[in-house]
Amino acid sequence: MFEMSDSEFALFRDFVLEMTGILLRPEKRTLLENRLRPRLRAHAMTSYLEYYTHLRSLGPDAVGELANAVTTDTTECWRSPHQWDFLIGTVFPILVSQAASTAGSRTPLFWSAGCSTGEEAYSLAIAAAESLPTALARQMQVLATDISPRAIEKAGQGRYRPARLAKLPPGALARHFTPEPDGTWLAKPALRERVIFRVQNLLEPTPAPVPFTVILCRNVMIYFAEAVRRRLVDRLCEALAPGGWLFLGPSEMLLDPPAGIEHRAPSVYRRSLP
Ligand SMILES: C[S@@+](CC[C@H](N)C(=O)[O-])C[C@H]1O[C@@H](n2cnc3c(N)ncnc32)[C@H](O)[C@@H]1O
Repeated sequence: MFEMSDSEFALFRDFVLEMTGILLRPEKRTLLENRLRPRLRAHAMTSYLEYYTHLRSLGPDAVGELANAVTTDTTECWRSPHQWDFLIGTVFPILVSQAASTAGSRTPLFWSAGCSTGEEAYSLAIAAAESLPTALARQMQVLATDISPRAIEKAGQGRYRPARLAKLPPGALARHFTPEPDGTWLAKPALRERVIFRVQNLLEPTPAPVPFTVILCRNVMIYFAEAVRRRLVDRLCEALAPGGWLFLGPSEMLLDPPAGIEHRAPSVYRRSLP
């Protein structure tokens, strides 16, 4: 069994930070070893240094392989239910009245940033389908991005074990998913066509189209170095339409929100209207 030396850990820690923004603390060393070991075997390599040198030689293409290996993809549909209650009970009525006053001139754009295997993005599409007036729900688009190509591939398949869907509101599972013979549930085409999945690194410029009506970037920054987190918050806030909403994870509240950003509910922020 391969062991990672202090210097090999330092090389990977710095590389991961540079490519993904994720800060690997010393206690993550065993996790990193366990995640990378299968990659060493797959490449028939005998040391972590050899694998590091290989990744470095890939240049920017290393990011996908590295992200597949080091990211944490824990997620589920309707994660943190109080935030979905707030989205449906407070944000949606505001969008409905805005749509009425602008005669539907602006397409509501939602972004699940760091969407992992897609449950959060499908939850957005379900919330809209179930709680927005039909015409507005049809206009709505969800962009869902993640740095991990493997997570995005799974997201596009839209196939989940029941545990990942257990928090959905009553009846939503049968309305939006079909049961498969192997016990998984498959997102129905009407749900899948509402969501566009893309591989995207949040350290790179924000994907077009902007501005977004709602951005969910939940349980992503918690893994980032502080300076990276601050830069990302600034960019996410800039990508919001005036009056747009930013949802962070429950433990990611902003102690010092950027100018023009108001705290509206636990880990929920709104860009001020002009
Ligand atoms: C714990 S999951 C959160 C999923 C979902 N947002 C939720 O709250 O359930 C964190 C996700 O962030 C992604 N991630 C980490 N660093 C990233 C980066 N630099 N750019 C884009 N996504 C990143 C990971 O690949 C992982 O899928």
